[in-house]
Amino acid sequence: MDIFERIAENRGPIGMYSGTEGYFIFPQLEGDLSNRMQFQGKEVIVWSINNYLGLGNNPEVRKADTLATEKYGLAYPMGSRMMSGDTALHYELEKELAEFEQKEEAVLVNFGYMGIMSAIDCLLSRRDVVVYDRGCHACIVDGVRMHSGNRFVFQHNDIESLDKQLAAATKVAEENGGGILVISEGVFGMRGDQGKLREIIDLRSKYNFRLMVDDAHGFGTLGATGMGAGEEQDVQDDIDVYFATFAKSMGAVGAFLAGNHNVIQYLKYNMRSQIFAKSLMSPLVAGNLKRLQMLRSMPELKNKLWENVNMLQSGLKEAGFDLGVTNSCVTPVMMKGSMEEAKKLVYDLRENFGVFCSIVTFPVIPKGMILLRLIPTTVHTKEDIDETIVAFRAIREKLESKAYLEEGVT
Ligand SMILES: Cc1ncc(COP(=O)(O)O)c(C=O)c1O
Repeated sequence: MDIFERIAENRGPIGMYSGTEGYFIFPQLEGDLSNRMQFQGKEVIVWSINNYLGLGNNPEVRKADTLATEKYGLAYPMGSRMMSGDTALHYELEKELAEFEQKEEAVLVNFGYMGIMSAIDCLLSRRDVVVYDRGCHACIVDGVRMHSGNRFVFQHNDIESLDKQLAAATKVAEENGGGILVISEGVFGMRGDQGKLREIIDLRSKYNFRLMVDDAHGFGTLGATGMGAGEEQDVQDDIDVYFATFAKSMGAVGAFLAGNHNVIQYLKYNMRSQIFAKSLMSPLVAGNLKRLQMLRSMPELKNKLWENVNMLQSGLKEAGFDLGVTNSCVTPVMMKGSMEEAKKLVYDLRENFGVFCSIVTFPVIPKGMILLRLIPTTVHTKEDIDETIVAFRAIREKLESKAYLEEGVT
Protein backbone atom coordinates (compact mmCIF):
# COMPACT_ATOMS: atom_id res chain seq x y z
CA MET A 1 0.00 0.00 0.00
CA ASP A 2 1.21 3.51 -0.76
CA ILE A 3 2.43 5.21 2.41
CA PHE A 4 0.53 8.41 1.73
CA GLU A 5 -2.69 6.48 1.04
CA ARG A 6 -2.31 4.63 4.33
CA ILE A 7 -1.76 7.77 6.37
CA ALA A 8 -4.65 9.47 4.61
CA GLU A 9 -6.86 6.69 6.00
CA ASN A 10 -5.25 6.15 9.38
CA ARG A 11 -4.42 9.46 11.02
CA GLY A 12 -2.86 7.92 14.17
CA PRO A 13 -4.01 7.75 17.80
CA ILE A 14 -4.03 11.54 18.26
CA GLY A 15 -4.55 12.54 14.65
CA MET A 16 -7.93 10.80 14.69
CA TYR A 17 -9.14 13.67 16.88
CA SER A 18 -7.95 16.38 14.52
CA GLY A 19 -11.57 17.44 14.00
CA THR A 20 -11.41 19.12 17.41
CA GLU A 21 -8.17 20.95 16.64
CA GLY A 22 -7.92 24.32 18.35
CA TYR A 23 -10.26 23.26 21.13
CA PHE A 24 -9.58 19.88 22.70
CA ILE A 25 -6.36 19.39 20.83
CA PHE A 26 -3.76 22.08 19.99
CA PRO A 27 -5.70 24.71 22.00
CA GLN A 28 -4.12 28.16 21.97
CA LEU A 29 -3.70 29.86 25.34
CA GLU A 30 -2.99 33.54 24.90
CA GLY A 31 -1.79 36.39 27.08
CA ASP A 32 0.92 36.43 29.73
CA LEU A 33 1.93 33.04 31.09
CA SER A 34 -0.02 33.08 34.34
CA ASN A 35 -2.79 31.64 36.49
CA ARG A 36 -5.36 33.30 34.23
CA MET A 37 -4.97 33.46 30.47
CA GLN A 38 -7.18 33.90 27.41
CA PHE A 39 -8.73 30.97 25.59
CA GLN A 40 -10.81 31.76 22.52
CA GLY A 41 -11.28 35.33 23.71
CA LYS A 42 -12.36 34.43 27.26
CA GLU A 43 -10.43 34.50 30.51
CA VAL A 44 -9.81 31.07 31.98
CA ILE A 45 -8.07 29.78 35.12
CA VAL A 46 -5.20 27.77 33.69
CA TRP A 47 -4.33 24.43 35.32
CA SER A 48 -2.51 22.84 32.47
CA ILE A 49 0.95 24.40 32.33
CA ASN A 50 3.94 23.09 34.28
CA ASN A 51 5.21 26.52 35.26
CA TYR A 52 5.36 25.19 38.83
CA LEU A 53 7.34 28.01 40.44
CA GLY A 54 5.98 30.78 38.24
CA LEU A 55 9.51 31.40 36.95
CA GLY A 56 8.43 31.35 33.30
CA ASN A 57 6.96 34.80 33.59
CA ASN A 58 8.67 36.16 36.67
CA PRO A 59 9.59 39.84 35.99
CA GLU A 60 13.25 39.34 37.00
CA VAL A 61 13.47 36.30 34.75
CA ARG A 62 11.84 38.16 31.87
CA LYS A 63 14.40 40.93 32.31
CA ALA A 64 17.30 38.46 32.31
CA ASP A 65 15.86 36.73 29.21
CA THR A 66 15.53 40.07 27.40
CA LEU A 67 19.03 41.25 28.30
CA ALA A 68 20.56 37.93 27.24
CA THR A 69 18.66 38.00 23.95
CA GLU A 70 19.83 41.54 23.27
CA LYS A 71 23.39 40.54 24.09
CA TYR A 72 23.61 37.24 22.20
CA GLY A 73 20.75 37.20 19.67
CA LEU A 74 18.96 33.92 19.02
CA ALA A 75 21.66 32.34 16.90
CA TYR A 76 24.71 32.32 19.16
CA PRO A 77 26.55 29.98 19.46
CA MET A 78 26.38 28.32 16.05
CA GLY A 79 26.98 24.62 15.54
CA SER A 80 27.05 21.70 17.93
CA ARG A 81 29.08 22.13 21.10
CA MET A 82 31.65 19.66 19.80
CA MET A 83 32.30 21.67 16.63
CA SER A 84 31.82 25.36 17.31
CA GLY A 85 28.93 25.85 19.74
CA ASP A 86 30.62 25.70 23.13
CA THR A 87 30.71 28.65 25.55
CA ALA A 88 31.91 29.37 29.09
CA LEU A 89 28.29 30.07 30.03
CA HIS A 90 27.28 26.49 29.19
CA TYR A 91 29.93 25.24 31.66
CA GLU A 92 28.82 27.73 34.30
CA LEU A 93 25.25 26.44 34.17
CA GLU A 94 26.46 22.83 34.20
CA LYS A 95 28.61 23.53 37.25
CA GLU A 96 25.69 25.10 39.12
CA LEU A 97 23.36 22.25 38.18
CA ALA A 98 25.85 19.62 39.37
CA GLU A 99 26.33 21.49 42.62
CA PHE A 100 22.59 21.80 43.15
CA GLU A 101 21.99 18.11 42.42
CA GLN A 102 25.00 17.11 44.54
CA LYS A 103 26.54 15.21 41.65
CA GLU A 104 30.11 15.43 40.38
CA GLU A 105 29.16 16.79 36.99
CA ALA A 106 26.24 17.74 34.74
CA VAL A 107 25.84 18.05 31.00
CA LEU A 108 23.29 20.21 29.21
CA VAL A 109 21.08 18.84 26.45
CA ASN A 110 19.14 21.01 24.03
CA PHE A 111 15.78 19.27 24.49
CA GLY A 112 14.92 16.85 27.26
CA TYR A 113 13.20 14.43 24.94
CA MET A 114 16.19 14.14 22.61
CA GLY A 115 18.68 14.24 25.44
CA ILE A 116 17.32 11.37 27.50
CA MET A 117 16.70 9.25 24.38
CA SER A 118 20.32 9.69 23.41
CA ALA A 119 21.55 9.09 26.93
CA ILE A 120 19.76 5.72 27.05
CA ASP A 121 20.99 4.89 23.57
CA CYS A 122 24.63 5.69 24.25
CA LEU A 123 24.85 4.18 27.73
CA LEU A 124 23.72 0.75 26.54
CA SER A 125 25.62 -1.75 24.43
CA ARG A 126 23.82 -4.67 22.80
CA ARG A 127 25.02 -6.89 25.65
CA ASP A 128 23.24 -4.73 28.24
CA VAL A 129 19.69 -5.14 29.45
CA VAL A 130 17.28 -2.30 30.16
CA VAL A 131 14.46 -2.64 32.70
CA TYR A 132 11.93 0.18 32.77
CA ASP A 133 8.60 1.13 34.35
CA ARG A 134 5.56 0.60 32.12
CA GLY A 135 4.37 4.11 33.00
CA CYS A 136 7.51 5.87 31.75
CA HIS A 137 7.25 8.91 29.49
CA ALA A 138 7.35 8.55 25.70
CA CYS A 139 10.95 9.83 25.56
CA ILE A 140 12.12 6.89 27.67
CA VAL A 141 10.08 4.43 25.62
CA ASP A 142 11.69 5.86 22.48
CA GLY A 143 15.15 5.68 24.05
CA VAL A 144 14.55 2.04 24.91
CA ARG A 145 13.33 1.42 21.34
CA MET A 146 16.79 2.35 20.10
CA HIS A 147 18.41 -0.29 22.30
CA SER A 148 19.43 -3.29 20.26
CA GLY A 149 19.80 -5.61 23.25
CA ASN A 150 17.20 -7.10 25.59
CA ARG A 151 14.58 -5.11 27.40
CA PHE A 152 12.18 -5.89 30.23
CA VAL A 153 9.27 -3.79 31.41
CA PHE A 154 7.87 -3.89 34.94
CA GLN A 155 4.32 -3.02 35.98
CA HIS A 156 4.00 0.60 36.98
CA ASN A 157 5.63 1.26 40.37
CA ASP A 158 5.21 -2.41 41.22
CA ILE A 159 8.33 -3.54 43.09
CA GLU A 160 7.33 -7.21 43.02
CA SER A 161 7.09 -7.00 39.24
CA LEU A 162 10.45 -5.19 39.10
CA ASP A 163 11.98 -7.92 41.27
CA LYS A 164 10.77 -10.58 38.79
CA GLN A 165 11.99 -8.65 35.77
CA LEU A 166 15.35 -8.04 37.42
CA ALA A 167 15.74 -11.76 38.07
CA ALA A 168 15.14 -12.44 34.37
CA ALA A 169 17.30 -9.49 33.30
CA THR A 170 20.17 -10.66 35.52
CA LYS A 171 20.15 -14.05 33.83
CA VAL A 172 20.25 -12.50 30.36
CA ALA A 173 22.91 -9.96 31.32
CA GLU A 174 25.11 -12.68 32.80
CA GLU A 175 24.73 -14.81 29.66
CA ASN A 176 25.56 -11.84 27.46
CA GLY A 177 28.30 -10.44 29.64
CA GLY A 178 26.43 -7.12 29.94
CA GLY A 179 25.02 -4.92 32.67
CA ILE A 180 21.54 -3.72 33.68
CA LEU A 181 20.05 -0.21 33.55
CA VAL A 182 16.81 0.38 35.47
CA ILE A 183 14.80 3.46 34.46
CA SER A 184 12.06 5.11 36.49
CA GLU A 185 10.73 8.61 37.07
CA GLY A 186 10.87 10.94 40.05
CA VAL A 187 7.20 11.79 39.53
CA PHE A 188 4.90 10.19 36.97
CA GLY A 189 3.29 13.11 35.23
CA MET A 190 -0.20 11.70 34.64
CA ARG A 191 -1.16 10.45 38.09
CA GLY A 192 1.41 12.30 40.16
CA ASP A 193 2.81 9.32 42.02
CA GLN A 194 6.50 9.42 42.81
CA GLY A 195 8.61 6.58 41.49
CA LYS A 196 9.37 4.24 44.40
CA LEU A 197 13.05 5.06 44.22
CA ARG A 198 13.88 3.94 47.73
CA GLU A 199 12.36 0.49 47.12
CA ILE A 200 14.02 0.19 43.72
CA ILE A 201 17.39 0.97 45.29
CA ASP A 202 16.78 -1.56 48.07
CA LEU A 203 16.74 -4.25 45.36
CA ARG A 204 20.47 -3.66 45.00
CA SER A 205 20.85 -6.07 47.89
CA LYS A 206 19.73 -8.77 45.42
CA TYR A 207 20.70 -7.49 41.97
CA ASN A 208 23.44 -5.49 40.36
CA PHE A 209 22.12 -2.57 38.29
CA ARG A 210 22.50 1.12 37.52
CA LEU A 211 19.58 3.51 38.03
CA MET A 212 18.48 6.35 35.76
CA VAL A 213 15.72 8.69 36.96
CA ASP A 214 13.72 11.13 34.85
CA ASP A 215 12.79 13.79 37.41
CA ALA A 216 11.04 16.21 35.06
CA HIS A 217 8.26 16.95 37.57
CA GLY A 218 10.32 16.53 40.75
CA PHE A 219 13.07 19.02 39.92
CA GLY A 220 12.34 22.28 41.74
CA THR A 221 9.20 20.94 43.41
CA LEU A 222 10.32 18.11 45.70
CA GLY A 223 12.87 17.80 48.50
CA ALA A 224 13.84 20.33 51.15
CA THR A 225 15.90 22.38 48.71
CA GLY A 226 13.96 21.51 45.53
CA MET A 227 16.65 19.10 44.37
CA GLY A 228 13.92 16.65 43.41
CA ALA A 229 12.53 13.22 44.16
CA GLY A 230 15.96 11.88 45.17
CA GLU A 231 16.20 14.44 47.95
CA GLU A 232 12.56 13.90 48.92
CA GLN A 233 13.16 10.15 49.33
CA ASP A 234 16.69 10.61 50.70
CA VAL A 235 18.27 8.57 47.89
CA GLN A 236 19.92 11.24 45.77
CA ASP A 237 23.36 9.62 46.11
CA ASP A 238 22.00 6.31 44.82
CA ILE A 239 20.69 7.75 41.54
CA ASP A 240 23.42 7.01 39.00
CA VAL A 241 22.04 9.10 36.14
CA TYR A 242 19.78 11.98 37.09
CA PHE A 243 17.78 13.75 34.38
CA ALA A 244 15.55 16.83 34.52
CA THR A 245 14.14 19.23 31.96
CA PHE A 246 13.96 23.03 32.15
CA ALA A 247 10.49 22.79 30.57
CA LYS A 248 8.66 22.55 33.90
CA SER A 249 9.84 24.23 37.14
CA MET A 250 12.26 26.47 35.23
CA GLY A 251 9.62 27.58 32.72
CA ALA A 252 12.09 27.46 29.81
CA VAL A 253 13.65 25.08 27.30
CA GLY A 254 16.60 22.72 27.64
CA ALA A 255 17.48 19.95 30.05
CA PHE A 256 20.43 18.24 31.76
CA LEU A 257 21.84 14.98 32.99
CA ALA A 258 23.91 14.70 36.16
CA GLY A 259 26.08 11.94 37.61
CA ASN A 260 29.69 11.07 38.25
CA HIS A 261 32.55 12.48 36.20
CA ASN A 262 33.12 9.39 34.04
CA VAL A 263 29.46 8.92 33.15
CA ILE A 264 28.88 12.57 32.30
CA GLN A 265 32.04 12.79 30.21
CA TYR A 266 30.97 9.64 28.35
CA LEU A 267 27.52 11.11 27.71
CA LYS A 268 29.02 14.41 26.57
CA TYR A 269 31.14 12.65 23.95
CA ASN A 270 28.60 10.05 22.86
CA MET A 271 25.05 11.43 22.89
CA ARG A 272 24.37 11.53 19.19
CA SER A 273 21.47 13.99 19.48
CA GLN A 274 23.88 16.51 21.03
CA ILE A 275 27.07 15.77 19.11
CA PHE A 276 25.22 16.19 15.82
CA ALA A 277 22.79 18.99 16.71
CA LYS A 278 23.02 22.68 17.51
CA SER A 279 23.89 23.55 21.10
CA LEU A 280 21.48 25.30 23.46
CA MET A 281 21.45 28.96 22.46
CA SER A 282 23.04 31.41 24.87
CA PRO A 283 19.90 33.38 25.85
CA LEU A 284 18.44 30.08 27.09
CA VAL A 285 21.61 29.22 28.96
CA ALA A 286 21.73 32.67 30.59
CA GLY A 287 17.98 32.57 31.28
CA ASN A 288 18.27 29.14 32.87
CA LEU A 289 21.20 30.30 35.02
CA LYS A 290 19.04 33.12 36.33
CA ARG A 291 16.14 30.73 36.96
CA LEU A 292 18.35 28.23 38.79
CA GLN A 293 19.81 30.98 40.97
CA MET A 294 16.29 32.11 41.87
CA LEU A 295 15.06 28.56 42.42
CA ARG A 296 17.94 27.98 44.84
CA SER A 297 17.86 31.29 46.67
CA MET A 298 14.09 31.81 46.94
CA PRO A 299 12.57 28.94 48.95
CA GLU A 300 9.42 31.05 49.21
CA LEU A 301 8.59 30.08 45.61
CA LYS A 302 8.40 26.39 46.47
CA ASN A 303 6.71 27.09 49.79
CA LYS A 304 3.95 29.03 48.06
CA LEU A 305 3.63 26.29 45.44
CA TRP A 306 3.06 23.70 48.17
CA GLU A 307 0.63 25.97 50.01
CA ASN A 308 -1.42 25.99 46.80
CA VAL A 309 -0.96 22.27 46.17
CA ASN A 310 -2.15 21.44 49.68
CA MET A 311 -5.06 23.87 49.48
CA LEU A 312 -6.20 22.48 46.13
CA GLN A 313 -5.70 18.81 46.96
CA SER A 314 -7.28 18.98 50.42
CA GLY A 315 -10.18 21.08 49.07
CA LEU A 316 -10.87 18.54 46.33
CA LYS A 317 -10.59 15.62 48.75
CA GLU A 318 -12.93 17.30 51.23
CA ALA A 319 -15.39 17.72 48.37
CA GLY A 320 -15.20 13.95 47.88
CA PHE A 321 -13.06 13.79 44.74
CA ASP A 322 -10.77 10.88 44.07
CA LEU A 323 -7.18 12.09 43.53
CA GLY A 324 -5.77 8.60 43.16
CA VAL A 325 -2.22 8.00 44.34
CA THR A 326 -0.63 11.42 43.88
CA ASN A 327 2.12 12.41 46.30
CA SER A 328 3.41 15.35 44.26
CA CYS A 329 2.09 18.63 42.86
CA VAL A 330 0.41 16.85 39.95
CA THR A 331 -3.28 16.74 40.85
CA PRO A 332 -5.35 14.19 38.95
CA VAL A 333 -9.10 14.08 39.50
CA MET A 334 -10.70 10.76 38.55
CA MET A 335 -14.30 10.55 37.49
CA LYS A 336 -16.46 7.96 35.78
CA GLY A 337 -17.84 8.77 32.37
CA SER A 338 -17.78 8.08 28.67
CA MET A 339 -15.68 9.84 26.04
CA GLU A 340 -18.80 11.72 24.94
CA GLU A 341 -19.44 12.94 28.49
CA ALA A 342 -15.78 13.83 28.93
CA LYS A 343 -15.88 16.14 25.93
CA LYS A 344 -19.05 17.90 27.06
CA LEU A 345 -17.72 18.22 30.59
CA VAL A 346 -14.49 19.86 29.46
CA TYR A 347 -16.45 22.17 27.17
CA ASP A 348 -18.72 23.07 30.11
CA LEU A 349 -15.71 23.72 32.36
CA ARG A 350 -14.10 26.03 29.83
CA GLU A 351 -17.17 27.87 28.53
CA ASN A 352 -19.38 28.14 31.60
CA PHE A 353 -16.93 28.04 34.51
CA GLY A 354 -13.78 29.52 32.96
CA VAL A 355 -11.64 26.57 34.08
CA PHE A 356 -9.02 25.20 31.69
CA CYS A 357 -7.40 21.86 32.50
CA SER A 358 -6.07 18.87 30.63
CA ILE A 359 -8.17 15.80 30.12
CA VAL A 360 -7.03 12.23 29.76
CA THR A 361 -9.29 9.40 28.58
CA PHE A 362 -9.05 5.87 27.18
CA PRO A 363 -6.61 4.40 26.04
CA VAL A 364 -4.23 6.21 28.43
CA ILE A 365 -6.53 5.29 31.35
CA PRO A 366 -9.17 2.51 31.55
CA LYS A 367 -12.37 2.78 29.49
CA GLY A 368 -15.18 4.58 31.30
CA MET A 369 -12.80 6.76 33.33
CA ILE A 370 -12.13 10.47 32.92
CA LEU A 371 -8.98 12.00 34.38
CA LEU A 372 -8.81 15.77 34.71
CA ARG A 373 -5.27 16.83 35.47
CA LEU A 374 -4.57 20.01 37.42
CA ILE A 375 -1.10 21.52 37.77
CA PRO A 376 -1.06 24.01 40.65
CA THR A 377 1.65 26.66 40.57
CA THR A 378 3.10 29.37 42.77
CA VAL A 379 1.10 32.03 40.92
CA HIS A 380 -2.35 30.51 41.55
CA THR A 381 -4.53 32.23 44.13
CA LYS A 382 -7.04 31.09 46.75
CA GLU A 383 -9.79 32.49 44.50
CA ASP A 384 -8.59 30.32 41.61
CA ILE A 385 -8.71 27.26 43.86
CA ASP A 386 -12.11 28.06 45.39
CA GLU A 387 -13.68 28.81 41.99
CA THR A 388 -12.28 25.61 40.56
CA ILE A 389 -13.61 23.45 43.36
CA VAL A 390 -17.08 25.03 42.94
CA ALA A 391 -16.87 24.28 39.20
CA PHE A 392 -15.77 20.70 39.83
CA ARG A 393 -18.66 20.12 42.22
CA ALA A 394 -21.08 21.42 39.57
CA ILE A 395 -19.74 19.28 36.74
CA ARG A 396 -19.72 16.20 38.95
CA GLU A 397 -23.37 16.77 39.74
CA LYS A 398 -24.16 16.98 36.02
CA LEU A 399 -22.07 13.91 35.30
CA GLU A 400 -23.82 11.90 38.00
CA SER A 401 -27.28 12.98 36.88
CA LYS A 402 -26.32 11.98 33.30
CA ALA A 403 -27.00 15.54 32.15
CA TYR A 404 -24.09 15.43 29.70
CA LEU A 405 -25.73 12.55 27.88
CA GLU A 406 -28.77 14.64 27.02
CA GLU A 407 -28.66 15.96 23.48
CA GLY A 408 -27.29 19.47 23.21
CA VAL A 409 -26.51 19.93 26.89
CA THR A 410 -23.22 21.73 27.41
C1 LIG B 1 8.71 13.02 32.28
C2 LIG B 1 9.21 13.84 31.13
N1 LIG B 1 10.41 13.57 30.61
C3 LIG B 1 10.90 14.27 29.56
C4 LIG B 1 10.19 15.29 28.98
C5 LIG B 1 10.75 15.98 27.78
O1 LIG B 1 11.40 17.16 28.12
P1 LIG B 1 11.53 18.39 27.07
O2 LIG B 1 10.21 19.07 27.05
O3 LIG B 1 12.65 19.19 27.63
O4 LIG B 1 11.88 17.79 25.74
C6 LIG B 1 8.93 15.61 29.50
C7 LIG B 1 8.13 16.72 28.94
O5 LIG B 1 8.46 17.86 28.96
C8 LIG B 1 8.44 14.87 30.61
O6 LIG B 1 7.23 15.13 31.12
